[in-house]
Amino acid sequence: MKTDILKLLLQSHAVGDETSFRKAALQLAASESNAGHVRVADEIRSIIAQMPATSGAARGAPVVDIAAPRGDLADILEGGYRDERFRDIVLRDEIRALLERIIVENRSRGRLERFGVSPRRRLLFHGAPGCGKTLAAAVLAGEMGLPLMTVRFDALFSRFLGATAVHLRAIFAEMPRRPGVYFFDEFDAVAKARGDSQDVGEMNRVVTSFLQLVDADVSGSLLVAATNHVELLDRAVFRRFDVIVPFEHPDRAQLVDLFYLRLGAVGLSTDEAEHLADHVSGLSFADVARVCDDAVRTMALHDREQITEGDVIEALESLKGRELSLTR
Ligand SMILES: Nc1ncnc2c1ncn2[C@@H]1O[C@H](COP(=O)(O)OP(=O)(O)OP(=O)(O)O)[C@@H](O)[C@H]1O
Ligand SMILES: [Mg+2]
Repeated sequence: MKTDILKLLLQSHAVGDETSFRKAALQLAASESNAGHVRVADEIRSIIAQMPATSGAARGAPVVDIAAPRGDLADILEGGYRDERFRDIVLRDEIRALLERIIVENRSRGRLERFGVSPRRRLLFHGAPGCGKTLAAAVLAGEMGLPLMTVRFDALFSRFLGATAVHLRAIFAEMPRRPGVYFFDEFDAVAKARGDSQDVGEMNRVVTSFLQLVDADVSGSLLVAATNHVELLDRAVFRRFDVIVPFEHPDRAQLVDLFYLRLGAVGLSTDEAEHLADHVSGLSFADVARVCDDAVRTMALHDREQITEGDVIEALESLKGRELSLTR
């Protein structure tokens, strides 16, 4: 645990990532305090308190991300290197193992190809909103040290339809040139558009050309598609994916893990995490993450460095209140 924190500290310092550095330092303080070293924990926290609010890099000269696409592609493809790692996501064991395996396969591409097989690199993520599909794509990119290239479907379809296939081709042409995790979010837009569109013939051509491009793609890039509406995809589309990964609502144990992941650094104990999990059944990961952030805001505004169960309950009540007023 501690070595992980130290690695994160050094790594975030090396790349000038102030937010991760601060997070790691807080985790270090929490781990010292859990180990009974209350004084050391306090000293670490007081050092963090003296750090300037935001890093100079964030405010000063703009940092040019070499992964960001330029020119025409910039409108439809957003790219950047990612900090997310497996430690940032709560996953069922078998899904974590599957994603780790995919990473290993892609790292060992040469060895696999010697035996006439290739790594699985076309993944379909499906499931309810807020359960980690986008986050998992970022984790894959972060773990592999590749940029996450997000395809903006709205931009792809909103222009006159005739250009869609051209844009798709441009994206697939980029895949061998710029290795990355190519993330096709809201992927059902492709399939749904087939039925919805005024111009059915044109949309059919778009889907057909997407399938052809997938078939022809021999790049080393990963292709990850995500959808909330897996039922809208037809067999021809399904068949193109090597791995189908379901993302489900959190169970109780995962809620405990999520609370601890988000609030362990500000002193939430495992017992408190267990207790809080009873209050949030039925919520998505994203809802609970939001509640945690809100609780940290309350804690910070009260000039405290330790979260209390009360902060979390209060944040939860206000989330529920907000949803009630939305449904009225
Ligand atoms: N499995 C998870 N573990 C930890 N945090 C999570 C998880 N899933 C979601 N979150 C939190 O919720 C936020 C939103 O989740 P994410 O964008 O990955 O959901 P999604 O499944 O892509 O939803 P959508 O279908 O709406 O695109 C994440 O940035 C993260 O803070
Ligand atoms: Mg998403």
